[in-house]
Amino acid sequence: MTMLLAIESSCDETACAVVKDGCDILSNIVSSQINVHTRYGGVVPEVASRIHVENISTVVTEALEQAGVTMDDIDAVAYTQGPGLIGSLHVGVQAAKAIAWAYHKPLLPLNHMTGHIYANRFVTELTYPLMALVISGGHTELVWMESDWDFKVIGTTRDDAIGEAYDKVARVLGLGYPGGPKIDKIAREGGPHYKLPTPKTDTPYDFSFSGLKTAVLQMIQREEKKGEEINVADAAYCFQETALQSMVKKTMAAVKEYRPSMLVLAGGVAANSRLRELMEENMKAYPGTRLVIPPLSCCTDNAAMIGAAGYIAYRHGLFGEFDAAADPGMLMPGEEY
Ligand code: KG4
Ligand code: ZN
Repeated sequence: MTMLLAIESSCDETACAVVKDGCDILSNIVSSQINVHTRYGGVVPEVASRIHVENISTVVTEALEQAGVTMDDIDAVAYTQGPGLIGSLHVGVQAAKAIAWAYHKPLLPLNHMTGHIYANRFVTELTYPLMALVISGGHTELVWMESDWDFKVIGTTRDDAIGEAYDKVARVLGLGYPGGPKIDKIAREGGPHYKLPTPKTDTPYDFSFSGLKTAVLQMIQREEKKGEEINVADAAYCFQETALQSMVKKTMAAVKEYRPSMLVLAGGVAANSRLRELMEENMKAYPGTRLVIPPLSCCTDNAAMIGAAGYIAYRHGLFGEFDAAADPGMLMPGEEY
């Protein structure tokens, strides 16, 4: 049995979890800063770092208490080393190192995106080859995995990440932060009453969302000029359908070409209800590939997912040093600058 203490603080959630054997969540404490950042319309890095400093000890204590374990039961301390906001990451990195040093435990430095992918182990054992669609506030990537801990990015966004586009469109529609869940909800009341351009790239698996975001902004300005108010539900519907349909189409092309045994969704945008529907519909054409979507609570940032990836890193002996620093631009393992 392997018991990990996992710490995540890459953006605006201060989180700590205790995870057994990479798939059994004994505790998963997430202290969200959303209420504070909502006031500013987005994450303010300096504010985020300060709140992490205030909350980190409490979430660690709570995670151990709720799991009913002490540091004596912990085999290693897993933490997010990057990518993310430098000040936010720094707090989690220092906490993990201090705890590991004080209790003589090994450290497991992890890439946040591997955490999002391995969150699918809370649903089922992963089988390979596997395709992961990693969609968050900072990433939109198709990752091909021929085996465990073997990552090859075959497609990425040319500009904005899809979560970033959701957040920016929500802001111009006056829906507030974070935009993803708000658009997800209000789009249910909208219909296809506006026309938006389909994102285009000249490569088969790359994505682009900034043109679509600008098109929404221009559409709002056009309506304003005509003296008309935009219908927010319709605009949210049209943006979401255009963004998701194009992303799903590219993902299906990758599934068709690569024929993975599993397609897993990963990251905050995997919480989207319409995406889940679209994926399930489209994947009916590929019965040889199993679609796996993480539980809702493990789509957006949390520490349990770091415990899940940490378990795999532990099995591979990927321990870190005590002089490691936060790496805000960290690439996936095996990726090169
Ligand atoms: O993975 P995550 O929590 O943080 C990053 O690693 O970036 O993802 C956050 C992103 C935000 O852009 C948020 O708007 C988006 O995930 N998101 C959603 C939904 N829930 C969160 N996007 C669309 N639909 C949702 N239901
Ligand atoms: Zn994330």
